[in-house]
Amino acid sequence: MSTHNLLMIPGPTNVSQRVYTAMSKPLINHRGEEFRKFYISLLENLKKIFQTENDVFVLTSSGTGGVECAASNILLPNEKIIVPVFGTFSERFSEAFKTYGCNVIEIKINPGDAPLLEHIEDTIRKNPDAKAVGIVYNETSTGVTVRDLPKICEIAKNNGMITIVDAISILAGDDLPVDKWNIDVCIGASQKSLAAPPGLALISVSKDAWKLIERAKPRSDYFNLIKYREYRDKQRETPFTPAINLFYALDEAIKMILEYGLEKWIERHKISSKAYYLAFSSMGLSFFAKEYCRSNTVIAINVPNGISGKTFRELLLNKYGIVVASGFGELKDKIIRIGNMGIINARNVLTVISSIESSLYELGYNINLGIGISKAIPIIKDLK
Ligand SMILES: Cc1ncc(COP(=O)(O)O)c(C=O)c1O
Repeated sequence: MSTHNLLMIPGPTNVSQRVYTAMSKPLINHRGEEFRKFYISLLENLKKIFQTENDVFVLTSSGTGGVECAASNILLPNEKIIVPVFGTFSERFSEAFKTYGCNVIEIKINPGDAPLLEHIEDTIRKNPDAKAVGIVYNETSTGVTVRDLPKICEIAKNNGMITIVDAISILAGDDLPVDKWNIDVCIGASQKSLAAPPGLALISVSKDAWKLIERAKPRSDYFNLIKYREYRDKQRETPFTPAINLFYALDEAIKMILEYGLEKWIERHKISSKAYYLAFSSMGLSFFAKEYCRSNTVIAINVPNGISGKTFRELLLNKYGIVVASGFGELKDKIIRIGNMGIINARNVLTVISSIESSLYELGYNINLGIGISKAIPIIKDLK
């Protein structure tokens, strides 16, 4: 008895009608002038999202393809990369570099915590021959953001190492000035805070990263960045057939953000996350991430004792039409993860909070009804 569901998982996110309409435009020749103009303009706008003058590329693959691209292009086999591991996506990041023969120096961090500058500093000291530091800026599996990222990038640079940052679940949802923070390689994806459909990976590449790439020679043909650069420079095209309709969608989604203002767009994420954290904690709920590293784009809530995470999620879906995510692995039914990404509005925030209140009440959780909403309302008045 409902219309479409509210997609509140950490990607894919809700997509606007304007983007869906752009996506349904007729196909064009990807080796023709119309595409060439469109592609170059898309890349220029994408640079504004990354806040960079570095090269940027759009890859026809999900975000993982962006990580695979970095893993296959930059380092030689046996070269060292320092990677903090603090959840599923940082584990996958590490695995990708191992797959391409890199010597991954892992720093194990407890899930719910974030790597700090001191962890990286210490590991750099012990491994001065490492070529890179690789970091998942926002660990989607635990709702943790690496708030020391700018300092980590600085120390890596000072030690002659490049930084490779998986920003898939945070690009356009929190601060990420790629040039200001000196990030050499930054990876994003279409389906998170950009509010476009899934299927495109985004990557920025600095001059220092190019030096390593030219020396290492890419070991992937499909994700060969040198080819991507050559095709862009010589033909203003992509080396392989791009997912043209997804490119249209991404282009429109980016234009919407730039028209609205990137800074304001990011600010919306900060406002709504503040509302969520305050509302949920006032209901007596706790969060998986420690307070110092809580993510603004992924809110990971501990499921209260005595309640099944599965039942909680199913109730939210079947009765309230709200889709939230489970945890990964052993956290599967212990946490629920709410995506606070992309199209943020008061209706969604209040609907999610009140539905969670209502579901918990129904599941027998002792709750002061209305408390969450009463905390959220004064905060979301700033959502213009
Ligand atoms: C931090 C992070 N890295 C990598 C990925 C993988 O992206 P995709 O599923 O688009 O391949 C995700 C997906 O949620 C992610 O959140």
